[in-house]
Amino acid sequence: MQARKILAVIEAADQLGVLADLARGPLSLAEIADRAGIEPAVAQKFLAILVWNGILHQNGDRWALDEVLSADVTSGALPLLRIEGWAARDHLNATGIVAALRGHRRPPEIDDGFVGELAEAMLRGARASAPHLARLPLWRDRTHLADLAGGSGGYAILLCRMYPGLRATVYDRPEMLEHTARAVADAGLADRIALAPWDLRGDSVPAGHDCALLSHVLHLLDAPARVGLLGRVRAALAEGDPVVVHDFMPGVAAGEPSPEEAASAIDWLANGSGFLPGPDELGSEFTAAGISVRTVTPIAATRTTVVSAACTIGPPDRQPVPSGSVERKA
Ligand SMILES: C[S@@+](CC[C@H](N)C(=O)[O-])C[C@H]1O[C@@H](n2cnc3c(N)ncnc32)[C@H](O)[C@@H]1O
Repeated sequence: MQARKILAVIEAADQLGVLADLARGPLSLAEIADRAGIEPAVAQKFLAILVWNGILHQNGDRWALDEVLSADVTSGALPLLRIEGWAARDHLNATGIVAALRGHRRPPEIDDGFVGELAEAMLRGARASAPHLARLPLWRDRTHLADLAGGSGGYAILLCRMYPGLRATVYDRPEMLEHTARAVADAGLADRIALAPWDLRGDSVPAGHDCALLSHVLHLLDAPARVGLLGRVRAALAEGDPVVVHDFMPGVAAGEPSPEEAASAIDWLANGSGFLPGPDELGSEFTAAGISVRTVTPIAATRTTVVSAACTIGPPDRQPVPSGSVERKA
């Protein structure tokens, strides 16, 4: 119960614009009040509360951020904190969960105001996860990756760096692709990574690819929409082509879910995707789309799971899209 209140004051410090400043070094009362745009007398009370709750330490006339929080902020945790704050207001709350349990489906897009935060958080996540995906031997003879809802492009970038014979197209919302373009240019890979505006809820996957990646994407959709998307991926590829899925997948890998996976299950509950397939259900979603699961590998370092799959003979003619699916609402 206390954790929720403590998070609220940390978020308030961020919204006042002082959290990142404090992570850079201790500040005086006048500096904090000035940067936050609040009265010094009010700031003093706010600072006292932050100290009592272990968020700040007071050293003489300066206030310093708790070491662990400071390390989190400087290593780039703020975008995720802001996204979590948005989600808590939007749907990741009791009302949202009840609505989802009664059949409400949240659209897959984050609010436009948080696309930049998502891009940054995804780039950071990719730094940890992409090396594990890149180790899969299947990329070696591939020439053109479809990175679907590829976000800021962290996976496409690492795969293209590691495999000189590979190029990629990152498909995503135009709002996200602005950020992807920056990351791809920074990586010096604009000649090998193309960007294409695309809607995951209904657009087909263009031809010309021989492998596909869906990283942290399937959890945005409910089961019928996942089958629909996998079917569109299958329709774009040839028999035997690999499809790699990467996500938090509580319940899919053997053993108890990690705390991170268990928490992600609450996200998937609240967004209405119900992305909690057991291994058999996951396999049948892939099979319904004409894709066959080969291996399911948990990544211990990131608490995520990689599913390596391959297209089977002939894509199904039509993908079943039962009612209630996000895809049908597009
Ligand atoms: C959780 S992020 C995953 C990004 C990336 N694949 C990764 O693992 O870092 C989900 C992605 O889905 C994209 N997305 C959400 N709704 C979309 C839509 N309707 N069409 C296309 N992309 C969408 C978001 O912009 C975002 O890049």
